[in-house]
Amino acid sequence: MAIEVVSLPLPPSADASKFADFGREIKGVDPGSLTPEQFKEIELLLYKHSALLFRDVSLSPEQQYKLTKAFDPASESYGHGNNKTESTKKSILHPDLKTIPRQPQVQLIGNGIVYDHEGLAEAKLKHPSHTTFHKTRVSPEEEDKGVTRFYRWHIDAALYDLSPPKVTTLYGIKVPQGPKQKCRYDDGTGDELEVPPGTTAFVSGKTMFDILPSELKSLAVRSKVKYAPHPYVWMAPAHALSTGLGIESEGLELPLEELPPWEESRIKTLPVLWKNPVTSGLHFEVHPCGAQELLVDPLPEGAKREGALYPDGAHITDLKTVRDLLYKMQRPGIAPPLVYPQDWHERDLVIFHNRGVLHSVVGAFKPNQVRAFHQCNLAASEDPAGPNAEDVRKWA
Ligand SMILES: [Fe+2]
Repeated sequence: MAIEVVSLPLPPSADASKFADFGREIKGVDPGSLTPEQFKEIELLLYKHSALLFRDVSLSPEQQYKLTKAFDPASESYGHGNNKTESTKKSILHPDLKTIPRQPQVQLIGNGIVYDHEGLAEAKLKHPSHTTFHKTRVSPEEEDKGVTRFYRWHIDAALYDLSPPKVTTLYGIKVPQGPKQKCRYDDGTGDELEVPPGTTAFVSGKTMFDILPSELKSLAVRSKVKYAPHPYVWMAPAHALSTGLGIESEGLELPLEELPPWEESRIKTLPVLWKNPVTSGLHFEVHPCGAQELLVDPLPEGAKREGALYPDGAHITDLKTVRDLLYKMQRPGIAPPLVYPQDWHERDLVIFHNRGVLHSVVGAFKPNQVRAFHQCNLAASEDPAGPNAEDVRKWA
């Protein structure tokens, strides 16, 4: 049976013209047992469309690991490394992750208490909530009425020592249904978005770049981000912005000397734009919460200097300046018409190009609402490629 490729159902809030290439539902194949030829087709579709949805599939943790690994056969360990190091225990991610014992690259995430699950007698899960991470919060009364926020826009990546995974697979096992919630940006714009409860929100990193004015495109194509060592430990005491797109600059980050041991050579410095290996498109891929410094190359010879930002290049180390610049470049890309909120159903599988999108947990659940997902991504065998000389000449 041939693979059938159909558009994703978009919510009324979405600007369909911006989603022409983004997202596809795939029918007619079993993602747990793809032939090598089918896999090649799926791989190509993923890099072209950034996110693939398979409905009503059965997928064991072993099959999910095998599928995820097929996108990067030399990768092996979970995207954040193993869960036993000191840095993981202190990390802001730690409470969100439970490992499937016989397939430790697959994590159980969700909400409520899950019993007798794939070798775990009892797993207490907590859906991450903006209330413990953002500087301000939606009031409990409004939360009861279904008002919520994006938790944290991110790329799945350790951002220290390990390379960002190429893909993430998310498989819904228990998915509580409920009324739609209202995701509010609370940044003075009045922006808000109707979302299914517990949605995973996606935006295209390519669109995030494509919609920028030329001076910010020029800055993006010339810039690299230096991430903090052990960024999730570093950011743990700090508070996020109300949009979930970065951190408030209040000086609360853990001082570098209080972090678990780290080495300069393991710190990640990555281009702001990541080049799609199939389409050659440029995707704006920055995890704003972990960013610490910006390294800007000077304009290439012959480029127009008028109106250019940092025409002679710069090494920006002031954290607030770094964050303000990134926010200016990334905020347009999370506007409500550009967000795809996945409406999860049980046995849905989403494969997303982790180097082509940004995503965020959204919503809030009560402790008695049981939600269980399997998530898998693998630290990649190499860092993402940035813009080439031709890209720089074109956009700088
Ligand atoms: Fe994630």
